[in-house]
Parts: sequence; C-alpha cells; structure tokens
Amino acid sequence: MSDATMPDATVSDVTMAAEGNTLAERYADALIPVFGTPQRVLVRGEGVHVWDDRGACYLDLLAGIAVNTLGHGHPALVGAITKQTESLAHVSNFFATEPQIELAELLLRLANAPAGSGVFFANSGTEANEAAFKLARRHGGAERPRIIALEGSFHGRTMGALAMTSKAAYREPFAPLPGGVEFLPAGDVDALEAALAPGDVAAVVAEPIQGEAGVVPLAPEYLRALRRATRETGTLLILDEVQTGIARTGHWFAHQGVDGDGEDLRPDAMTLAKGLGGGFPIGALIAFGPEVRGLLTAGQHGTTFGGNPLGAAVALAVLGTIREDGLLEAARDLGEHLVAGVGALGDPRITEVRGAGLLRGIGLADPIAPQLAAAALEAGFLVNAPNPTTIRLAPPLVITADQLDTFIAALPGLLDRAERPETPGGI
Ligand SMILES: Cc1ncc(COP(=O)(O)O)c(C=O)c1O
Repeated sequence: MSDATMPDATVSDVTMAAEGNTLAERYADALIPVFGTPQRVLVRGEGVHVWDDRGACYLDLLAGIAVNTLGHGHPALVGAITKQTESLAHVSNFFATEPQIELAELLLRLANAPAGSGVFFANSGTEANEAAFKLARRHGGAERPRIIALEGSFHGRTMGALAMTSKAAYREPFAPLPGGVEFLPAGDVDALEAALAPGDVAAVVAEPIQGEAGVVPLAPEYLRALRRATRETGTLLILDEVQTGIARTGHWFAHQGVDGDGEDLRPDAMTLAKGLGGGFPIGALIAFGPEVRGLLTAGQHGTTFGGNPLGAAVALAVLGTIREDGLLEAARDLGEHLVAGVGALGDPRITEVRGAGLLRGIGLADPIAPQLAAAALEAGFLVNAPNPTTIRLAPPLVITADQLDTFIAALPGLLDRAERPETPGGI
C-alpha cells in the first residue's frame, strides 16, 4: 500500500489511511490548528437543529455566528443553489449575470442608497472590509493618511481588515500591518471630534453593535455624532454591518433601527457578509452616492469569485425569504421575547441582555461564560462566549419563541453547572 503522505497517493489511499481514526483525530492531523480544538464534529442540520457524529442533537442558537439566517436545509436555499447550479454557477467578472445585477439593485434599495451608488461583491466579511480599506485610501490620498477604528472592533483577519481590528493578540503576530490606523475609545464623542478636527482622516470605520467585543451597541448619540462629525470634516463613515446586517437586528441593517433623532444615519460605505448568503460565502461593499462609488475605478480592485451567479442567486433567495416570511418582524419580536424571558428569571448572575433583534449578549456577573457555553453544549445548545462575561446568541431568524424558551428555562441550571469547578472543560 502506498503511503498517503506521498505526492502520488490516491484518494482511496487517503481514505484507507484514515480508516479507524475518528473525524476529530483526522481533523487534528489534517488541518492547520488556527481554530483550536473543535467542540464537536457536526454531520447534519435541519431547521434550527444540528447533529454531531455521535447522534447528539443541538438547538443552534449561534447560526454559524450570525450566518444561517434561514437555519439549515431551508428549501429556498436548496432550491436556489440547485436551480442556479443547473444553469450558471460561475463566470468570470469579464461577464455580467442577471442574479448579480438583481442582487446589487436590491441591496441598494434596501440600504436606501441614493442614485449613483454601487456595490462590489466579495466572498467574506474580511474581503468586504479590505475593499472598504482601499476605498478609504483612495479617498484619503496624501492629504488624509489617517484611518480611525474603534477599540473593541473586529473587522476580519486579512491584513487590511486586521489593521482596523483592535485586539492585540490578533494583530501583533503579523506586524507590520498596513499603517495609518488609530483606535479611539468607542462612545467618546470628544475624542472623536478632536481626532477628526485636523481634517486629515480618510475614514472612520465602526460596527453599530460590536459583535466580537461581546455584543456591545454603540450608543445612538455616539452614532449620531459619528455621522455628523464625519460629514462636517469630509471624512468617510464606513459601517461594518457584516454581523449586524441582513435583518439580524430586526432591520435590514442595524443603523436603520437606531433612533437617528431626525438625522440620516446612512453611511458613506457599508460592508456585509455572514447572513447575506445564509451559509453560502458572499460579501459586499456598498458605496453610497456617485462620489464614493467613483473612488474605485476599473482595474483598481477585483476578485475571481465575488458576485458569481450562484452566490448572488442564494443571497436573493435569502433576502426574498426574509421579506416573504416576515423575518424582520420575527427578529424584532423574538429579540424582545428573549430579553423579557431572561429578565423574568430574575437571576442575579445575569447582569443584562445587550444587543438588538436576534443578536444578543447575555452579560454575566462573573467571568464564567466559557464554562457556561460548555455546559450549554453538553445540554444540547450551541452558544458562544465572545468574552469571559458574555454569552452570545445569534440564532437563525426562523427560530420560534418556544424554542428560545427551552434555552431560557435551562439557563439557571446551566449557570449552576458553570459555577461548579467539576463542570466539563472550557471551550
Ligand atoms: C463585524 C465583523 N466584520 C468582519 C468580520 C469578518 O468576516 P469574515 O469572517 O467573513 O471574514 C466579522 C466576523 O466575525 C465581523 O463580525
């Protein structure tokens, strides 16, 4: 038998070499371990449930981190993938396709973008932000070399997006990152105004709700100040709605649900991904208005896969289903239901429920979120702990109130288990 590690190994050689090893062992042998040890090997999904390779079933309260908008195996998703693949799955960007054009038009409409706006399609959130970074540089030129991001921000792992991401542990191993990015404390209007005053900032990039920081919303008054100060100083406002967009917060985009107090909070650019494809990889940058759209001209950016008809058809199916099935209203109502239900527990170990719609962070009095997430997993719930005192919930928008109630009812017991030292290991 030939050695599966030899270059001439066949697929069946590899399969035979793997025989007898569990999927978890094969994962450990075959993948670069940037994600650590996976919590489970998942083999199947249906609706809001997934199953692991031992047959255990879980209520998916995370949706692939705010991705599976319609849950798993939704007929609209399956239908769109099948139908489009039978026809045209991919063409190069030397050619246009109808799904791509239709999706761009629909996103511009949903974003309430003015005439002359435009969309660039990518394949992920980090790529959408990479395009936004280039947009900012084109706007800035030599006169505006600075870019402002916020403390607590997460914008992705490619070098440009990483340069705008604040967490030192993510950044430091990859220095030097693209320069010119500074971080301001989120919510500090004085610091913002002082930073923008010289007029040499190309762009401010911000998430309306900082998801990876622990589902921390920017205060409406800060968002208003952000919009006003960037407009007054000719600075681009880039909103990263990768996690918050596509009905997740009960609005097509989170900034639309913020009380603008009469002010138009529309950004100059917005990035999307995650929920847009409902599990199919697609990202987008929206440039608002002809001036911003004109910052990227022919040849200045590109992608092989971005905007391919398959991804676009899937995204159109996701957006259509959200509208037809009333999932915007559902996200709003279910979000309120969750907040009320968790509040009604009156458990002093829970300090608050942050966020909007179905993007929620349950704040804990003690730093036991990893243990709580592990206890939840053992009990059949997928959640995650973005920081030691927060449990994040971002379930499919097709979840029901009864299904949310099973988790709410289990929470006190899960907290008990998380507090006990013998609780099964962390995540
Ligand atoms: C706000 C935000 N921006 C960007 C990203 C990066 O997206 P992706 O992982 O698709 O590259 C994420 C991912 O968690 C995110 O939450």
